[in-house]
Amino acid sequence: MYKILLKQDLVPGIHLFRVAAPNVAKKARPGQFVVIRIDEKGERIPLTVAGWDETEGSVTIVFMEVGTTTYRLATLGMGDYITDFVGPLGLPTHIEKFGTVVCVAGGIGVALIVPIARALKKEGNKVISILGARSQNLLFWEDELGSVSHQLIVTTDDGSYARKGVVTEPLKELLESGEKVARVIAIGPSIMMKFCAKTTEPFGIKTIVSLNPIMVDGTGMCGCCRVSVGGVTKFTCVDGPDFDGHQVDWDLLFARQRIYLDEEKRSLEQWQHQSAFVSE
Ligand SMILES: Cc1cc2nc3c(=O)[nH]c(=O)nc-3n(C[C@H](O)[C@H](O)[C@H](O)COP(=O)(O)OP(=O)(O)OC[C@H]3O[C@@H](n4cnc5c(N)ncnc54)[C@H](O)[C@@H]3O)c2cc1C
Ligand code: FES
Repeated sequence: MYKILLKQDLVPGIHLFRVAAPNVAKKARPGQFVVIRIDEKGERIPLTVAGWDETEGSVTIVFMEVGTTTYRLATLGMGDYITDFVGPLGLPTHIEKFGTVVCVAGGIGVALIVPIARALKKEGNKVISILGARSQNLLFWEDELGSVSHQLIVTTDDGSYARKGVVTEPLKELLESGEKVARVIAIGPSIMMKFCAKTTEPFGIKTIVSLNPIMVDGTGMCGCCRVSVGGVTKFTCVDGPDFDGHQVDWDLLFARQRIYLDEEKRSLEQWQHQSAFVSE
C-alpha cells in the first residue's frame, strides 16, 4: 500500500499527489511513468513521474480528471492509500548535451516536462520552454518550468494571460528567427504534439513526443498500447513513451485512443450514479 503524503489541487480538475514509494523514487528518471491501481477492483492507469525525492522516498504524480479512475483518484486525500504503484516503467527521456532544446508543454504536459527540462539544463543545454494552456485558470507550474529554463514563453488560447494563441505559433517564430535549435521535446494533448511535429518538420529538427495510448499492463504483454512509428509497430510502454514525432502515425493513435469511448462513458456514469447513491 502506498500512502499519499501530500495532495495539492493545482487548478480545477488537476491534482498533485506526493506518494511514499521509496523503491520507485530510487530508480525514477525523467520521462518514465508508474502504473497505479487505486484498490483491488480498480483498473490500472499510467501516470508520468512529475518528480521524486530519493531521501524522502517519495514520488510526485500530477493527474487530470478525465474518467472513472482519475475522478476516483481525485476523491482521495492526504493519508489515504493507493493499492498498487508500479514503476518506474518505460524508457527514460534521452538526455545529453544537444545545444539548444525547445521544451513545449501543453496543459498537464508541464508537470511531465519539468523533470526533463531540469535534466537538460543540468547537462549544459540551453533550454527554451513554451508553456500553453487553454485559459489562465488552467495554467500551473509556470514558475517551476521557468526555473529550469533559460527562457520561457507562455501562451493562453483565449488570451486571458500572457500571449494569446497556441504553442505552435511561438515555436514557429523561434525556428524562423534563426535560433539554432538542436531538438524539440513536446508533451501535452496528442493533437498538440502532432501539430508541434508538423511545425518542426519543414525545419528538419528532431522532435520528441511522449505518446499516451491506452495501456493495461504497462509491461509489453497485452499489446494495448500499440502505436506505429516509422511504419513499425511499437509498444509505448516498453519502447517509449518517447518517440520521433515526425514518424508517428497520428491517425492510428487517435483512433486507438477512442476505441473504448462508449465503455468509458458508461463506466463513469455508473460510478457517478453509485457515488451519488452512497452520499445520499
Ligand atoms: C505513458 C503515459 C503517461 C501518462 N501520464 C499521465 C499523467 O502524468 N497525468 C495524467 O493526467 N494523465 C496521464 N496519462 C493519461 C492517463 O493514463 C489517462 O488519463 C487515464 O488512464 C484515464 O483513465 P480514466 O479511467 O480516468 O479515464 P477513461 O475512462 O479511461 O477515459 C476517459 C477519457 O480519457 C481518454 N483517455 C483514456 N486513456 C487515455 C490516455 N492514456 N491518454 C489520454 N487520454 C486517455 C479517453 O479517450 C476518454 O476520452 C498518461 C498516459 C500514458 C500512456
Ligand atoms: S500496456 Fe500492454 S503492451 Fe503496453
